[in-house]
Amino acid sequence: MTATLSTRRPNLPPALAAFKQQGRDELAQFIRESKALLGDKLVILGHHYQADDVIQFADFTGDSFKLAQEAARVKGCQYIIFCGVHFMAETADILTNPDVEVILPDLSAGCSMADMADRESVQNAWQDLDRLVGASDIIPVTYMNSTADLKAFCGRHGGIVCTSSNARSVLEWAYAQKGRVLFFPDQHLGRNTAKAMGMPLDEMVVWDPFEELGGNTESAIQKSKIILWKGHCSVHQMFVPEHIDAFRARDPEVKILVHPECRMEVVDKADLVGSTEGILKVLREAPSGSHWAVGTELHMVNRVAKSMPDKKIDFLSPMVCLCATMYRIDMPHLAWTLDELRQGRVVNRITVDAETTHWARVALERMLAVK
Ligand code: 13P
Ligand code: SF4
Repeated sequence: MTATLSTRRPNLPPALAAFKQQGRDELAQFIRESKALLGDKLVILGHHYQADDVIQFADFTGDSFKLAQEAARVKGCQYIIFCGVHFMAETADILTNPDVEVILPDLSAGCSMADMADRESVQNAWQDLDRLVGASDIIPVTYMNSTADLKAFCGRHGGIVCTSSNARSVLEWAYAQKGRVLFFPDQHLGRNTAKAMGMPLDEMVVWDPFEELGGNTESAIQKSKIILWKGHCSVHQMFVPEHIDAFRARDPEVKILVHPECRMEVVDKADLVGSTEGILKVLREAPSGSHWAVGTELHMVNRVAKSMPDKKIDFLSPMVCLCATMYRIDMPHLAWTLDELRQGRVVNRITVDAETTHWARVALERMLAVK
């Protein structure tokens, strides 16, 4: 016998299980009606990787930088439903007033990259680095894709947050003050950005939290200008240079556009690199008839390709590269959270404690102030 959804997920709340049985049209009507009923009390934020079914209901869409700016700007609403992943909802909670309640429709929508660095291992690395080169000469920089307590760690230690759209300005800010950067959790964004700034590879080391001294010699660390945490996005690791070669062999006019979470060999071969919002802007401004192969999450590429039929927009990989956790936010979860709000109940609220909020906000506000 085939297992039903409710037997596979025994903890599914009955109301959510009931929404799971509904068709798309019925769900869409319920979501629209609920949004109208909740009016200005509610803002829905949606990341570009969300599926079409969900993103259609977002009041604001964007990359993680733009969505953080929207959260910081939000005035007068009571609830934010964040259609994205956990670290994005945490950031929205940090940047909004305490009376704004931030909701993540499915609490299992995490980010595997964010899980690759935790407070304890970063703290241990910091102590080792302090002993070897002196922490007073290091700025910790965390990618937005990290937990709130790592953002708070950066706030406490004179550090800052960056996103894929401002990593270069943030690193310039950091090197204007100190000689070294500890960059976590995405080694690729750190390496690609430092390389684009002209830093040679022999001034970069990778810190593996499971190895003594991160797997490095003392002299390599002393020589380094950037210490890159050994983390990555499993979705963007699926793009390889051979995909670019294959596209160019088939279509000499194609332009390759990739996200900076891709490995260095892919970024080096690409024509252009950008955050999700940056990718969208390049494609919107591209001339009619131009050809593009895009290396980022599949839902976004498919949506953009559909919305710009005058351009030829392809997905860079022959494989399916989608962010499975982003995809957990679906219409039934959105409908369920709205239904609960209609009944005066907040489910799946994301809250960050006051102390963590204070220091994480310091690091986020430093980022928002960097031009
Ligand atoms: P963006 O900030 O470019 O939207 O990237 C977020 C993300 O998680 C990409 O994997
Ligand atoms: Fe995290 Fe990668 Fe998904 Fe972005 S695409 S949310 S980095 S797992």
